[in-house]
Amino acid sequence: MVGSGICPHLGAPLAAGRVDCGTLRCRWHGLALDANGGPGWRPLPAHDDGVLAWVRLDDLGGEPPLPAPVLARRPAPDASVDAVATLTGVCEPDDVVANRLDPWHGAWFHPYSFTRLTVVSAPEASTDLPDEQDRFVVDVTFRVGPRLGVPVRAEFFCPEPRTVVMRITDGEGRESVVETHATPRAPGVDGRARTAVVEATIATSDRPGFASARRLAPLLRPMMRRTAARLWRDDLAYAERRYALRASGWPSSG
Ligand code: FES
Ligand SMILES: [Fe+2]
Repeated sequence: MVGSGICPHLGAPLAAGRVDCGTLRCRWHGLALDANGGPGWRPLPAHDDGVLAWVRLDDLGGEPPLPAPVLARRPAPDASVDAVATLTGVCEPDDVVANRLDPWHGAWFHPYSFTRLTVVSAPEASTDLPDEQDRFVVDVTFRVGPRLGVPVRAEFFCPEPRTVVMRITDGEGRESVVETHATPRAPGVDGRARTAVVEATIATSDRPGFASARRLAPLLRPMMRRTAARLWRDDLAYAERRYALRASGWPSSG
């Protein structure tokens, strides 16, 4: 279960409290909270998928709750390294998803990470395609140094409306995935929308050396997070501009 970190009595941080036989006790005045909740404090069901922690918002979310998050196939946990980066932008989830489903921008907008990008196939915009065809396929070279690149084929698809998955289907790191989850948050004090981008990179490789590289996961994770965060700083500028233009009424019909 997951609950608000603000004590319903006088607002103390509940993260500083103590858990005692399944009861959370606030440090300020000892208020006891358990899985049944209490006045002003309602715990919500949580789900740990091994990489990401989810909270089910039930009626707060305004959508029918699902028994579990919708996840695409991932590499096996014992054969992969995972890292999660989280950033928040002034935009709506659609703006994040639109950025991720625009593969053409990759080499233009992130020349430090991508080169030789070709969109091999794109789904027809107005057609209701079966899932296995409803995806972009891209050939791209990941830059790993000034003169060094790793060419791969990757597919982009949406297992659900606020998630975009990139899976490497051919080349180095085949079956590695990057899951981008666009999570709406409460509006900011300026009244404008806020969206958290939670991006999980789950890398795997057939190379014999990868098993030992996995032992270096604590060192690899910060690097993987930095790479994702650098790309998302640019991509959030894209998503935020899209949101700002929409709010200004662009494109105007007149
Ligand atoms: S603020 Fe938590 S018990 Fe008073
Ligand atoms: Fe991008």
